[in-house]
Amino acid sequence: MTYLDIGSIDDIPERGARLVKTKSETVAVFRTASGQIFAIEDKCPHLSGPLSQGIVHGSRVTCPLHNLVVDLATGGADGPDGGCVRTFPVEVRDGRILIGLTAGLGEKVA
Ligand code: FES
Repeated sequence: MTYLDIGSIDDIPERGARLVKTKSETVAVFRTASGQIFAIEDKCPHLSGPLSQGIVHGSRVTCPLHNLVVDLATGGADGPDGGCVRTFPVEVRDGRILIGLTAGLGEKVA
């Protein structure tokens, strides 16, 4: 596991998200109203909607396309067929956000 510094916590507004593109995936990094940081795959389990553009409420996000609600901590979506998105470990050190990525795929490209 490689931890990648993706920027300052202040770079993400409350209830907002920032996208991090790596060699292998696009990760949506969210900041909740209470200051928690979560990182999940930016791909809704329904029809791949951009979760980074959804509405953050508590520790969940509502997909902007068809309103599926995804738990930012577990990646689980509401409903019996809700599916699940990949989550990534997050650490905050000295105001910097670090996300854990599979070794060799942690290079930020955008
Ligand atoms: S693509 Fe997210 S709810 Fe349909």
